[in-house]
Amino acid sequence: MTERTWWKEAVVYQIYPKSFSDADGDGFGDLPGVIDRLDHLERLGVDCVWLNPVYQSPQRDNGYDVSDYRAIYPEFGTMDDWDRLLEELHARDIRLVMDMVPNHTSSDHEWFQRSRSEPDGEYGDYYIWRDGDPDEPPNNWESFFGGSAWEYDAEREAWYLHLYDVSQPDLNWRNPDVRDAMADTMNWWLEKGIDGFRLDVVNLLSKAEGLPDGDPSNDWTGSEHFVNGPRIFEYLDEIHENVFAGTDAVAIGEMPNLDLEHARRYTAPDGPLDLVFHFEHVGLDFGERGRWDVGDWDLLDLKETLDRWQGGLDWNSLFFENHDQPRSVSRFGDDERYRYESATALATILLTLRGTPFVYQGQEIGMTNGTFESLDDISDVDTVRNVRELIAAGAVADYESIRHVVEHRTRDNARTPMQWDDTAHAGFTDGEPWIPVNENYADINVASERERTPSVLSFYEALIDLRREREALVYGSYDIHRPDDEQLFVYTRTLDDDQVVVVINFSDSAATADLDALDAEASLLCGNYDDVAAEPNGPLELGPYEARLYGQSA
Ligand code: GLC
Repeated sequence: MTERTWWKEAVVYQIYPKSFSDADGDGFGDLPGVIDRLDHLERLGVDCVWLNPVYQSPQRDNGYDVSDYRAIYPEFGTMDDWDRLLEELHARDIRLVMDMVPNHTSSDHEWFQRSRSEPDGEYGDYYIWRDGDPDEPPNNWESFFGGSAWEYDAEREAWYLHLYDVSQPDLNWRNPDVRDAMADTMNWWLEKGIDGFRLDVVNLLSKAEGLPDGDPSNDWTGSEHFVNGPRIFEYLDEIHENVFAGTDAVAIGEMPNLDLEHARRYTAPDGPLDLVFHFEHVGLDFGERGRWDVGDWDLLDLKETLDRWQGGLDWNSLFFENHDQPRSVSRFGDDERYRYESATALATILLTLRGTPFVYQGQEIGMTNGTFESLDDISDVDTVRNVRELIAAGAVADYESIRHVVEHRTRDNARTPMQWDDTAHAGFTDGEPWIPVNENYADINVASERERTPSVLSFYEALIDLRREREALVYGSYDIHRPDDEQLFVYTRTLDDDQVVVVINFSDSAATADLDALDAEASLLCGNYDDVAAEPNGPLELGPYEARLYGQSA
């Protein structure tokens, strides 16, 4: 029997504050801007906000390069603004999950500055340093953002490891002082009254003894030596013990290259985490050359992956988007002809599978991928660095020849400003936005979605309501039907004598569904097409991307 907790019942809304709402007109979203928009969240019906990092940071990786974990980056506002945000959220019964970055800091962090200048001092061993020939990195590990994971530091005359940008040195988790400092930081925030943490790349904390070379045929060279490394459970158990134990704060681990086996161990009843993010379903469209290539995927792949995780893990994190992923309607749906239909079909999957759903800002209005004419139009350090590396290595000739991949994949797709209305810059700012607004903002925005019927937004609201009313959609068991059907995604959610049947035609052509799973007495609960009979009455005739939920007795 699954234990009941708030974070299983919650729908989480992710806010990327830099691109959400700008209150002071500097073109950069901020905390007062978030406060101004809380009515939107309340109306949508979400229960929890995950806020991307707002700490002091030089913003090389938009806040994942933290230079002070206990201060707010001034462009986001002040600590008073943050306190007010927490208060305003809680007044609306919306919880707040902060984003913690334990694997690395910014190179501007005082710890790193002192580590580089005083090797024998208190912080000397806070990072992963190696002596050696300045022309030869200590091993062949790669940065996720492209190129070597090592940088030679002329001041300390040693190499340091950075699994991400050169300005994001990895912390040395073997050092108990680092572990204590991180636990203290998290407790400091918890004492301020927050409701949990999303822990950034938290399965990378433990690196293999001796830092051996990695197998170069791996997509991310070296990853077998730092993904789920040898001491990872010890470190995470320690965090659990020192930070989360005895509280009802949620611990959500973001975990690159996570497999189901490890996910089970991390989230087991005596495991260190509550929820984990894996990336298998958002890797289905990788091509032969990996992430910087686009490959084919089909519904069977998507169903197989989702189904395996549904069956394999008691409680999943459900997501199609976040600040690192392209827009789901462009990626998995059809953002032109069937934007409304496919965005709502995806919403149906997101909000009715078993697990905790995460809605990323703009997803609830069906925002789409953007246009990026040249590499100069890209802000994302990940895209810029990787594309430059590919061009330098001769793997691609120039930007134009990889532009279709970039426009499909770049993280900037998720980072264009939230589209609130059809005024200048989509109502995001009165100034010049730090990143251009998507050209389609006059058509796709919160205000127009509120006026239009049907709309992606009203469908999200209806489904979130239904999920709250119908416990089977939260705690019910999940069973797939017709797993081999190439057009339909059908499953049931069952709790005691209540059952919800979810039927989705995830294709751009009509489908007929003669379903054993549906009773004659079933009644329609929700759907993304109009004028659908309340009772099934024989085989269902479904339009492109049509989604329906029926309720019946189990
Ligand atoms: C995570 C974040 C991503 C960041 C990276 C390094 O994957 O979601 O935005 O660039 O970690 O911190």
